[in-house]
Amino acid sequence: MNRDERVPQLADAFAHHFGGRRATHLVRAPGRVNLIGDHTDYNGLPVFPMAIGRDVRIVYRERADQTVNLVNLDPVFTSVTFSLEQWIDPSPVGTWANYAKAGAQALISRDATLCGFDGVVSGNVPVAAGLSSSSALVVAIGLALVTRNTLDIGRTELAELMARGERYVGTRGGGMDQAICLCGRVGTASVIDFNPLRLDPVDVPKGWRFLVASSLVPAQKSGPAQSTYNRRTEECREALNLLVASGRVPDAASYANLLEQSTIESLLRVADDALSDPLRKRFRHVITEATRVRLARAAMVADDAAVFGTLMVESHRSLKDDYEVSCPELDELVDAALASGASGARLTGAGLGGSVVMLCDASAVERVQASLADRYYGSRDVRPGLDHCLFVAKPSGGASVMTL
Ligand code: GLA
Repeated sequence: MNRDERVPQLADAFAHHFGGRRATHLVRAPGRVNLIGDHTDYNGLPVFPMAIGRDVRIVYRERADQTVNLVNLDPVFTSVTFSLEQWIDPSPVGTWANYAKAGAQALISRDATLCGFDGVVSGNVPVAAGLSSSSALVVAIGLALVTRNTLDIGRTELAELMARGERYVGTRGGGMDQAICLCGRVGTASVIDFNPLRLDPVDVPKGWRFLVASSLVPAQKSGPAQSTYNRRTEECREALNLLVASGRVPDAASYANLLEQSTIESLLRVADDALSDPLRKRFRHVITEATRVRLARAAMVADDAAVFGTLMVESHRSLKDDYEVSCPELDELVDAALASGASGARLTGAGLGGSVVMLCDASAVERVQASLADRYYGSRDVRPGLDHCLFVAKPSGGASVMTL
């Protein structure tokens, strides 16, 4: 792990807040950027994210009782204390404490008696930007508790537990964010399949750069986007139920079954007859997006940036027109990226704000960055700094723990 300047800063803050004692452990949990495959995970279909070099870090020292004390270096996030009871009462909706509590509550449901810790938290994953800062926090807390209590739990089991646990905040999310956060590998992006959870890491070709650009429209997981997100999960379930009830597809229990048993073309034909909008459009997005993930994997393996980029553009169009989770700012960014020389661009994550990810050739990335700085950010307020809104995402490793 990189011993950059944030580590001594966290260690000093710990001593300051906790009576001069020293922190003993450092947990690091990265954010992620999803390259392609959005709104597929909760339908049991694949995604293709990579962990990025921005993360949530916690330095901590164990406590002998059940208390967790957390101080955040960012004063916007007020300190939180809770006890690892059977049921941890949530804090007011929208507060960061609920993500910390989500990670803890998930572990308690597995191991009833846990001891806590004192910790100081610092994150540099842009918040509400579609880059999973919240899941990084959930995972960091989970990993701290696993280490503190020497629990015997593998990475994929922990990822599944944290994914279920995060529903504590009210979003019926899938398992992508927690899985890549815990299991990502340096230099790769991973195709993730579900039920059972498994990751297939693919080397990111040397000449590829993934640039992330924030639309500056917040995509709060526990905010207004939550009801749209949850409605989409219901629409997908309803579409599947209606198709099966129509008797026109095999008696499939899941989207994955459907795709195993029928071709995309026949599914789209049946959906055209058996479903009406918006369910028909939601269904079309989900199954075409899953197909794009498989094709994108092949394009990455073949170092074919043109095909990968085209798939990204198709994915964005599908998320915009069929899934209806884009917004004018995301569309503007995608257009600006393509006009500036990116090979592909799409919204990433849940959408309705947040960020765009684009694929650029290494030789073009600075030009694209400069062009976006001018075209998109030139007339906008980019506090806390342009490098927080527009940066190259480095394919990074998953969460880690080290002793200090
Ligand atoms: C959020 C959820 C993920 C996934 C994406 C959309 O990030 O946490 O599980 O559903 O949205 O792909």
